[in-house]
Amino acid sequence: MSKSKILFIMTGSIACYKACALISKLVQNRFEVQVVATKSALQFVGNATLEGLTGKPVVSDMWERGTIMDHIHLSRWADLVLVCPATANYINKISQGVGDDIATTLFLSHQFEKPFLIAPAMNTAMYLHPVTAASIQKLKALGVGILETASGVLACGEVGYGKLLDPELIFHEIETALKRPASTQTQPIRKSEAKKILITSGGTAEPIDQVRVLSNKSTGTTGAHLADVLIELGFDVTYLHAKNAVRPQNSCEKVTFETFLDLERQLQSLLKTNDYAAVIHAAAVSDFSILSIQAGDETLEPNPDQKISSESEVTIRLKRNPKLLDQIRDFSKNSAIKIVAFKMTATHQKAKWQEAVNKVLSRSKPDLVIHNDMSEMNWDTGLHIFHAHQSGQDSITLNSKTELGQYLGQYLSEVLI
Ligand SMILES: Cc1cc2nc3c(=O)[nH]c(=O)nc-3n(C[C@H](O)[C@H](O)[C@H](O)COP(=O)(O)O)c2cc1C
Repeated sequence: MSKSKILFIMTGSIACYKACALISKLVQNRFEVQVVATKSALQFVGNATLEGLTGKPVVSDMWERGTIMDHIHLSRWADLVLVCPATANYINKISQGVGDDIATTLFLSHQFEKPFLIAPAMNTAMYLHPVTAASIQKLKALGVGILETASGVLACGEVGYGKLLDPELIFHEIETALKRPASTQTQPIRKSEAKKILITSGGTAEPIDQVRVLSNKSTGTTGAHLADVLIELGFDVTYLHAKNAVRPQNSCEKVTFETFLDLERQLQSLLKTNDYAAVIHAAAVSDFSILSIQAGDETLEPNPDQKISSESEVTIRLKRNPKLLDQIRDFSKNSAIKIVAFKMTATHQKAKWQEAVNKVLSRSKPDLVIHNDMSEMNWDTGLHIFHAHQSGQDSITLNSKTELGQYLGQYLSEVLI
């Protein structure tokens, strides 16, 4: 069997050392890898390592005699191009059509018949910079596969987004992209037929006092990713999100919430006034709100304008919140609305997962439940495994947010159009 040929473009980031592990994995899995490295990339890893791993000389100089046409030949040779790590500089340059070295010129000679994947790695500010965000959008619209980034501690010591996606996940993306026949790509929907979709995202925060809140670990990354996928497919998305949740990169209507009550009110009002075809309820809604606070001898109401003294013991009583999922159909202007629910469990026992999902399906009657268990989630690498359940059907396992996005995009395109 012939090996798939990967053109592996490396640009100048500390994450180059992680890219070496990915090259090694590709070679071990019988891929043929040709590395093209920018001058900056070679400041981080040496020619010897890259040639040693791939068995091929590294290409880095467009003017090298004997390989003078590599900026075209390598594009035609490859089955897939991966830029890993991709710097902000590289992304911004190619989005403008700049081709001033071999790595950028290879994008200009790319003919969009084969996958071109980009795995960004950079400081959060560089990643969220409006110029970089606009370049990413532009490249996505051209059909370039921009992989997610992970969150966590960055090389500069700051914490945030922009970390290179785990090499195992990039490997998985390469395999998926190579398997995907061009004919099965989901086609964008015409703007005039755009159906409205409401996505809730991020976690509620119940104020205890002026500075303290009762909240959860939700970041809104999944909701933001799903919003981006659905916007790109042509859906008209409203993103109802926690104040500090990750936002989609594509433009859409955004509404914020903070507390459970806030979210409940916004959700009801949006459902009553808009004709949503579907709701993706991905927000992590607190099961409890604060009933009362016992601070020493005093019983207090939660008050966002007052700070509780830390001098005495504090006991907080919680009250159960109603399930917002159960209200969606009642408040919706569209009685045929499709509901996608999320259920998280914290047990290793698969029988218990199914029990919890069945409970959601029978009580709240969503059309689809996306389930994940804490044991299959890694907050550092962003690796989440999802299981999609529909009533009366076997569940499907989805190994990344990207797969979840593809699955939901396909599902909603089928049921709504
Ligand atoms: C120590 C160090 C680490 C860097 N890490 C990154 C990075 O992770 N991402 C990035 O976009 N730029 C990073 N840079 C800046 C790029 O290396 C710089 O913009 C360079 O011009 C990129 O060139 P290239 O895109 O042609 O490889 C780093 C620079 C230094 C000195």
